[in-house]
Amino acid sequence: MNETIEYIRSKIKITPKIGIVLGSGLGDFADKIEDKIELAYKDIPNFPISTVSGHDGKLIFGKINGKDIVAMKGRIHFYEGYDMKDVVFPIKVLAEIGIENLIVTNAAGGINTDFKAGDLMLITDHINITGRNPLIGPNDDTKGPRFLDMTNCYDKDLISRAEDAASKLNLKLQKGVYIYFTGPNYETAAEIRMARAIGADAAGMSTVPEVIVARHRGIKVLGISTITNMGTGVLDKPLDHAEVVQVGKEVAGKFSDLLTNIIEVI
Ligand code: HPA
Repeated sequence: MNETIEYIRSKIKITPKIGIVLGSGLGDFADKIEDKIELAYKDIPNFPISTVSGHDGKLIFGKINGKDIVAMKGRIHFYEGYDMKDVVFPIKVLAEIGIENLIVTNAAGGINTDFKAGDLMLITDHINITGRNPLIGPNDDTKGPRFLDMTNCYDKDLISRAEDAASKLNLKLQKGVYIYFTGPNYETAAEIRMARAIGADAAGMSTVPEVIVARHRGIKVLGISTITNMGTGVLDKPLDHAEVVQVGKEVAGKFSDLLTNIIEVI
């Protein structure tokens, strides 16, 4: 970790308070960042490198509307075969750099039948049914508590700012509970029905490990999902990764505008 931070500090002179994880298809937001300095994951000591297509790995430092930010373009997923500690390593790095707010974005399958493909959903809470947790192992008490409180995990104040930002754009946002499956297969129809029965609104394969570690470090979290498709069995058609990517691309514009407006009011 020390070597990683030293490398980043040798390249970057700003200390952003806002970090953003750009999920699949949301890379376009990166084009809006001004005064960019990009660090490829492969050049950062100890940084894990994502293998999934559509995730081009770099850390981008710069400004959005004059505000310093750091964005992760591309994330590491557990289903790629990494350990949980690799999945969350970038978040630990952002915490060391000193971010105080983390905006996590992802693509997710709609479980709530009021949703439709192309919707954006503010994450109000999550369900982790994977049995995996990045905090398993010895706890570093200097970083955070052994038994982490998950009340207000997705920060209520950030949610209300995001809602204000959306209404200024005349953008309708859904709100709901994100359920974390490891993937890489999409859920079965029975799993989606179970997820609905236990209170989930959208299913995905990322985000939760990162959020847990961010909260452990005391970072405030805002989570936003693009509903790229309806979950398995909700509609009478098979899921197709290409379609998921396509819908992600189609909403990237409005998502990007929303992110910009949110950053302005954080
Ligand atoms: N399930 C899990 N992850 C996803 C989905 C889905 O339906 N769509 C996009 N990411």
